[in-house]
Amino acid sequence: MDRLLDKMQEAAMYITSRIGSQPLQIGMVLGSGLGDLAEELSDSVAISYKDIPHFPVSTVFGHKGRLVAGTLEGKRVLCMQGRFHYYEGYGMDQVVFPIQVMHALGIGHLLVTNAAGGVNITFRTGDLMLITDHIRLIADNPMRGPNYESLGERFFDMSHAYDPELSDIARRAATGLDMHLQEGVYMFFAGPSFETPAEIRAARILGADAVGMSTVPEAIAASHMHMRVLGISCITNMAAGILAQKLTHTEVMETGEQVKESFTALVRAITREWPV
Ligand code: HPA
Repeated sequence: MDRLLDKMQEAAMYITSRIGSQPLQIGMVLGSGLGDLAEELSDSVAISYKDIPHFPVSTVFGHKGRLVAGTLEGKRVLCMQGRFHYYEGYGMDQVVFPIQVMHALGIGHLLVTNAAGGVNITFRTGDLMLITDHIRLIADNPMRGPNYESLGERFFDMSHAYDPELSDIARRAATGLDMHLQEGVYMFFAGPSFETPAEIRAARILGADAVGMSTVPEAIAASHMHMRVLGISCITNMAAGILAQKLTHTEVMETGEQVKESFTALVRAITREWPV
């Protein structure tokens, strides 16, 4: 057997040995501000990344590094509390490994969330944005390298990388909560520096509504394996050059904290209606 497939199986077998064999339905990557949702799962089991064979370990302040399996709104979910970012120095293969392990666990649906800078000037700090598409022009595609046909095709479609049916469910959930859900294109930047004002102007011309340093690798790997993806960004700040103030990680964390309640409510409402 091949090395990547071996690693996926070993990690998945370890996770199953800890959480039992009851099938999991939805994988969730919880970005800044949403991590506490994992504490709200019932019948939960938490596993530190450091205990899982072949998993990298998260290094960012404010991100916990563990998987939490449990029940949320009647669905069996597996949450990543903390993710692996390219800017931490991991290879793209390491960034997407947990998504491949979710696939090995039989999970076919993925919710990815993140903190993002608002590029669309009609957005406001604290808005939530449904990701309708993405742009990745910089940094390697995570599927570069040998292709594993048992996971997906060499050349795979990204026309509906963010699932239209799941997007509709998110729109309806937001309406039900009387919440305005922005929509737009998320553009990946490698970080760790925030972008320059010129890069943000360029991103806007290219069609971006928000920018961030995560999510796109995971969404690509998920698409490769035909997983259905829903993405939601929390606009934690307006991107560089839009407002007079400097960008700080503190602002990102503070907005994440302020939006936590509504973000959590939206994710719960979506999960309740999730078609699995
Ligand atoms: N740029 C990139 N990533 C981000 C930002 C930003 O402005 N805010 C939160 N994550």
